[in-house]
Amino acid sequence: MAPLSPYGTSEFDSRQFRTAMGQFCTGVTIITSLGADGAPVGFACQSFAALSLDPPLVIFCPMKQSRTWPVIEERGSFCVNMLANRQQEVSAKFGAPGDDKFAGVEWDPSPLGLPVIRYGLTWVECTVENVLDGGDHYIVVGRAQTLGEVLQDKPLLFYRGGYLSTEHPRVTPAQDSLSNLFTWAGGDEWL
Ligand SMILES: Cc1cc2nc3c(=O)[nH]c(=O)nc-3n(C[C@H](O)[C@H](O)[C@H](O)COP(=O)(O)O)c2cc1C
Repeated sequence: MAPLSPYGTSEFDSRQFRTAMGQFCTGVTIITSLGADGAPVGFACQSFAALSLDPPLVIFCPMKQSRTWPVIEERGSFCVNMLANRQQEVSAKFGAPGDDKFAGVEWDPSPLGLPVIRYGLTWVECTVENVLDGGDHYIVVGRAQTLGEVLQDKPLLFYRGGYLSTEHPRVTPAQDSLSNLFTWAGGDEWL
């Protein structure tokens, strides 16, 4: 295979930028919260990442036009649901505008009352710690408050604008030995 040219182009449009960013494979989450009227809200989100171990922080980036974001901002908390391979339909549902995204979706309330979507890989409930400007998105920093149970299943991945999964599920150690995972073999601390 020919090596990639190191020269590149500084003249690109948003379609080319999107294509380039689509080469980066991510998981898929549904970020949920609860309106003041008690109605569950949520949206599909791939811009989720672990940020800090101590304190335990995460980030996600909602578009400024997101209808879910003002609800999260008002409540001050959100729940990140990490999707399993079999939840493509859930991703499609929450990834498009809709008045009743939760119709036909099974969920249970978290300790703070936020929607935990069933059959995901795991979930983490967070409080909003900080909100930064990020162009046409916000960068939301959350502090992890509660961790859900870990399900042994394959992850749902998003790559080049489509869904895929890994061939085999990687077995996650039991919760009490998870701390082993937090040390990178090279010596530097990494998630
Ligand atoms: C796989 C996938 C990943 C997405 N990631 C993001 C994201 O990181 N940030 C974002 O704002 N929208 C993302 N979206 C788009 C939103 O889910 C979509 O615009 C949704 O309709 C927003 O809902 P809301 O307006 O009710 O918040 C993603 C959609 C899909 C299908």
